[in-house]
Amino acid sequence: MARILITSALPYINGIKHLGNLAGSMLPADVYARFQRARGHETLYICATDEHGTPAELAAAAAGQDVQTYCAEQHVLQYEVGVKFGLSWDWFGRSSSPQNHRLTQHFAQVLEERGLIEERVDQMVYSIDDKRFLPDRYIEGTCPHCGFEKARGDQCDNCGNLLDPTDLINPYSVISGSRNLEVRDTRHLYLLQTKMADRIRAWVDSHTDWPLLAKSIAYKHLDEGLIDRGITRDLSWGVPVTQGEFPRPGFEDKVFYVWFDAPIEYIAATQEWAESQPDRDWKSWWRTDEGADDVRYVQFMGKDNVAFHTVSFPATILGSEEPWKSVDMLKAFNWLNWYGGKFSTSNKRGVFMDAALEILPPDLWRWYLTSNAPESSDTAFTWEQFASAVNRDLADVLGNFVNRILKFTESKFDGVIPEGGAPGPLEEKLFADVSARLADLAEQMDAIEVRKSAQALRALWVVGNEYLQEAAPWTAIKTDRDRAAVIVRTALNLAALYARISAPFIPFAAEKIAEAFSQAYPGAWPTTDAAAELSTLPVGLSVRAPEVLFKKIEDEQIAEWTERFGGAE
Ligand code: 2FM
Ligand code: ZN
Repeated sequence: MARILITSALPYINGIKHLGNLAGSMLPADVYARFQRARGHETLYICATDEHGTPAELAAAAAGQDVQTYCAEQHVLQYEVGVKFGLSWDWFGRSSSPQNHRLTQHFAQVLEERGLIEERVDQMVYSIDDKRFLPDRYIEGTCPHCGFEKARGDQCDNCGNLLDPTDLINPYSVISGSRNLEVRDTRHLYLLQTKMADRIRAWVDSHTDWPLLAKSIAYKHLDEGLIDRGITRDLSWGVPVTQGEFPRPGFEDKVFYVWFDAPIEYIAATQEWAESQPDRDWKSWWRTDEGADDVRYVQFMGKDNVAFHTVSFPATILGSEEPWKSVDMLKAFNWLNWYGGKFSTSNKRGVFMDAALEILPPDLWRWYLTSNAPESSDTAFTWEQFASAVNRDLADVLGNFVNRILKFTESKFDGVIPEGGAPGPLEEKLFADVSARLADLAEQMDAIEVRKSAQALRALWVVGNEYLQEAAPWTAIKTDRDRAAVIVRTALNLAALYARISAPFIPFAAEKIAEAFSQAYPGAWPTTDAAAELSTLPVGLSVRAPEVLFKKIEDEQIAEWTERFGGAE
């Protein structure tokens, strides 16, 4: 049985992430991890904070903290809010870890030995007023590709093109706003991606099953032609170029570029995980010469990260010619927007993870964000759609079913799973229906079709309501106790089954449902033999209705939250 290695794009350290970040990487990765664990696969879900580079330095400066203190604090905040959201990371590491320092320096060393690193004199933008170079996000200006006026030095957020600071038109310093800039010489290390274009293309070609979004971005970059990329920066916060295994005179004040060390942290975080306990081994996950051949490695990320994972990181991994595990399946997402615009911290538009949990429990968000996952196109969050997902799917369909059958059992069967009777035609029809739908759900989950998986799950909840409506135990009980017993037993089994199959999406509610039946949580993923799966609860078992599973969202709340978080303009 394959082992499953999962990574979700590492969130930048610069503050708690918004729901769009969550929807396009960490949450779907979590759903997938929970599913694979339930199926009995040994699963390792690794994430970390991405702590280096200009985003960290700028945010620390804005917070009036030194960058180390800032990162240490923000790491804990992001970890805590992630756990509250139910993100079941096996490890949530830090790209500033000693492990990542060592491994980043190791890769640089090996790439150099392979003739893939070159020292070049670069012309970089220097701010005379700030008395420093302005790499990446320290500089903004107009995008040469699309004309967007707030393009950053490393990437344009509007058109997604990767940029060099010197590409920008009308640039200014983000630190001081100064346009008193000049271009100065500075030495940097370049990774010679041009030498690797054919190998990277062949590697991308070999992944015939990647989703279109991932492939099309990879080929766009390959077709445009790879360029050699500067992998060092004139910054103080980061992995130093000159320490450890990799001494290099003249680079004492330079660090590796954040996008060079960040993906290496996927591996280094696994080392952090392994070193935190005696019986763990990271190599069997990451080295094909150490047993990683049976690992299926799945990455989750937003579309802006795809180029780095299909070109830049593979250049590091493949270029090393060492037997590293590379990604098998790359699941990329479009944007979750906020009413058609972007989420924005500064303009107070959109909901961030901590604020989301202040107003509602995590499962409600998890359900909305997965059932509306931005897979085939960008998706716009609206409070109305959110309320509909919560009220119609969770409260009216799942919550109603579970509550109704448990309350009925309490009032008519003393809260005990009744014996008597035998399944009839309605149950046979239900078993066939549930079997087919369980097969569909597992297929969609395996294919990481997040929206379709949520639809398949919802369809299973609907089947339960339809069955109850048709079988009508409240009528049967008046004339035929055995018939009512069969219906109640079947429906209770169905509710317990819902706990198992819903757990990847709504783990907190699933746990409450499992508790109502004294079932182990998280339970194993069911087979598609519904007749068997729906007769597992022991007759005579006491059950009890849980407290309200899902409270409906009211119009007044929507009004209040629109006011607080912004909404339609
Ligand atoms: O775009 C981002 O949020 C980056 N911090 C993602 C890094 S993914 C990985 F390569 F580290
Ligand atoms: Zn642009």
